[in-house]
Amino acid sequence: MEKILVTGAYGQLGSELKILSAGTSGFEFIFTDYDSLDITDRHAVNVFISKHKPDFVVNCAAYTAVDKAEQDKEACYRLNADGPLHLAAACLQSGSRLLHLSTDYVFDGTASLPYREEDPVNPQGVYGASKLKGEEACLQLPDALIIRTSWLYSRFGNNFVKTILKLGKERELVTVVFDQIGTPTYAADLAGSILEVIKQTVNNQTAWKPGIYHFSNEGVCSWYDFAMAIRRFSGLKCRIIPVESKDFVTLAKRPGYSVLNKTKIKNTFQLTIPHWMDSLELCITNQKNG
Ligand SMILES: NC(=O)c1ccc[n+]([C@@H]2O[C@H](COP(=O)([O-])OP(=O)(O)OC[C@H]3O[C@@H](n4cnc5c(N)ncnc54)[C@H](OP(=O)(O)O)[C@@H]3O)[C@@H](O)[C@H]2O)c1
Repeated sequence: MEKILVTGAYGQLGSELKILSAGTSGFEFIFTDYDSLDITDRHAVNVFISKHKPDFVVNCAAYTAVDKAEQDKEACYRLNADGPLHLAAACLQSGSRLLHLSTDYVFDGTASLPYREEDPVNPQGVYGASKLKGEEACLQLPDALIIRTSWLYSRFGNNFVKTILKLGKERELVTVVFDQIGTPTYAADLAGSILEVIKQTVNNQTAWKPGIYHFSNEGVCSWYDFAMAIRRFSGLKCRIIPVESKDFVTLAKRPGYSVLNKTKIKNTFQLTIPHWMDSLELCITNQKNG
């Protein structure tokens, strides 16, 4: 039976993988988080991976507090750059395949067409720069597969959907920027695609094509459009007011445009990806139904 080790499993993506694992036969899943496998601890990573010898390691562990990272650089790099380095080294030793997650924040957001995998990177803040270092660390492993994603949400963890649902109940007016454009990603869709890539590899070892891939839901929107859709699907009564980024100051600079081009991952693994609105509706319905 193939073994899949998931790190950072209490987070959004890790939790969605856990839910999907329940309906996935033929695999042994090992779910870990900082309490059972701290990926910043090189020795612990080596011991764990050499003991369990997973066939696949899916690294969902990350420092994702983008603003906090600006003042907490060391901790952010420890987790987002050193952690993947330790995992890559241990995977090389044990022959495990590493699937690592990265972000649209490796780009500077000045493009006007969806970013392709080979487009020049130019992170604008500590988080994006640390994630880029993590990518570079993984790429030292010739077999590593990296998926960059954007605007991740799920019913688990902290994310924009949950923030709007909360603020929308507490306030009459909620202001949201309309001049940052991207694509939301439902973590359940990403989790499903990750498992699909792994299943294809188990059926045919040559299906595993290392390198960098982009993944989000289909479509494009602003944060304002995203908030309006959340309002509609959840039946919130608050008004959502569009504002410019200059009126919404944050510690870390946000990319103005971070739409990801998904052609490579769709063609390589024959994936069909839902539109962001369909997935959002599903996520909100699932939350309502507990
Ligand atoms: N969230 C987004 O909008 C977004 C966008 C683009 C890309 N991504 C990328 O997608 C991936 C998954 O993101 P996510 O939103 O699922 O992340 P998340 O919800 O923040 O989950 C990360 C998990 O890693 C855990 N963790 C913290 N320190 C650890 C350590 N030393 N060892 C092991 N685990 C540790 C966290 O625990 P604590 O919560 O206790 O710290 C958390 O459970 C990440 O690589 C992220 O960079 C995310």
